[in-house]
Amino acid sequence: MKILLIGATGTIGKAVADKLAAEHQIIRAGYSDGDVRVDLGNSDNIRSMFKTTGKVDAIISTAGLASFAPLQQLQDSDYQLALNNKLMGQINLIRIGSEYVSDGGSVTLTSGVLSKEPIPGSASIAMANGALESFVLAAALEETRINLNVVAPAFVKETMEMMGMDSSTGISAADTASAYAEALNSHHGETLDVRDHI
Ligand SMILES: NC(=O)c1ccc[n+]([C@@H]2O[C@H](COP(=O)([O-])OP(=O)(O)OC[C@H]3O[C@@H](n4cnc5c(N)ncnc54)[C@H](OP(=O)(O)O)[C@@H]3O)[C@@H](O)[C@H]2O)c1
Repeated sequence: MKILLIGATGTIGKAVADKLAAEHQIIRAGYSDGDVRVDLGNSDNIRSMFKTTGKVDAIISTAGLASFAPLQQLQDSDYQLALNNKLMGQINLIRIGSEYVSDGGSVTLTSGVLSKEPIPGSASIAMANGALESFVLAAALEETRINLNVVAPAFVKETMEMMGMDSSTGISAADTASAYAEALNSHHGETLDVRDHI
């Protein structure tokens, strides 16, 4: 399969690329690096990316920005970032990108378990995650030519290590990648909790 992976240079994206590259052709997209560059927050930019890549068999997004901050400190700009980038940026991959996906192909987006298991500081991220999961659940009723799914990662071990946290409860990026591989060939309108697909 020819797979466009947005966020391919990131912690989860790199692991997804490593997992899938043996069997599939991966087009790596990133913000500042990659085979193609894209800014998820800019729909014209997303259109240009698809004009460059042409037809693909699957789109996977392991990108999406949102701020982690206490509720009282979240600014308008924090909510706008979550809405424009993590939420609408990924939704636009379906709205703009689905016509570039071959019959029977798939689009897999990324939310996070904070949608259902929030912690203090996660309000704007949880907002985007929950909306993304609901959007895919509903959109899948009408988009039946290709499969639409969301992967909800839990805290990734490597991310916890980067943040100087105890990573013993984390899930490795490699294990996280398994859920993306699972979403490639089956499922529709679902949110795949990474912990169920290790
Ligand atoms: N890591 C975790 O513990 C965890 C847990 C739950 C959910 N998630 C979610 O999983 C996703 C990936 O997380 P991660 O930890 O792998 O992130 P990451 O390491 O920060 O990587 C982010 C990726 O997205 C790209 N990117 C950044 N800004 C972009 C933009 N405006 N447009 C397009 N691409 C952009 C980056 O490209 P450049 O490198 O070129 O900037 C990079 O490839 C995020 O949505 C995150 O919320 C992560």
